[in-house]
Amino acid sequence: MSEKPAYSGNTVMARPDGPLICGSDTAVVVQDAEAKLIRRDVEVALCRCGASNNKPFCDASHKRIGFSAGQEFIDEREESIAGQSGELVITVKANAMLSVSGPVTIFSRSGESVTTRMRAALCRCGHSAKKPFCDGSHKKMGFVG
Ligand code: FES
Repeated sequence: MSEKPAYSGNTVMARPDGPLICGSDTAVVVQDAEAKLIRRDVEVALCRCGASNNKPFCDASHKRIGFSAGQEFIDEREESIAGQSGELVITVKANAMLSVSGPVTIFSRSGESVTTRMRAALCRCGHSAKKPFCDGSHKKMGFVG
């Protein structure tokens, strides 16, 4: 059994050219659009390249396809999470984005980009120009997953 890191609060780390590492000191709940539980854990790696054969989870296909995603970002919709607590709930929208709810800190691995949100739509098709956030590109490129 692999040892998982201890988290403080809820976090989503955008790995450069790789998945979204979602962690929590309570729980990360991954569910489908009908709120059916997919996985409950303290850490999950979710695909954001769009190519995983095990969606919504990363299966390392990002390496095979040469996925390129700069890790730094600007968030124009930062929200305060002060005094908030609770699970990190991630709803996998069919053929669309990851819808995140719960107090969460989203950051780049370098630590240069960081924001806090109560809600966020994160890209999982690999085509957003505003990664790690969704910009609606899944519709244009006909993402299926
Ligand atoms: S990010 Fe790893 S398979 Fe898509």
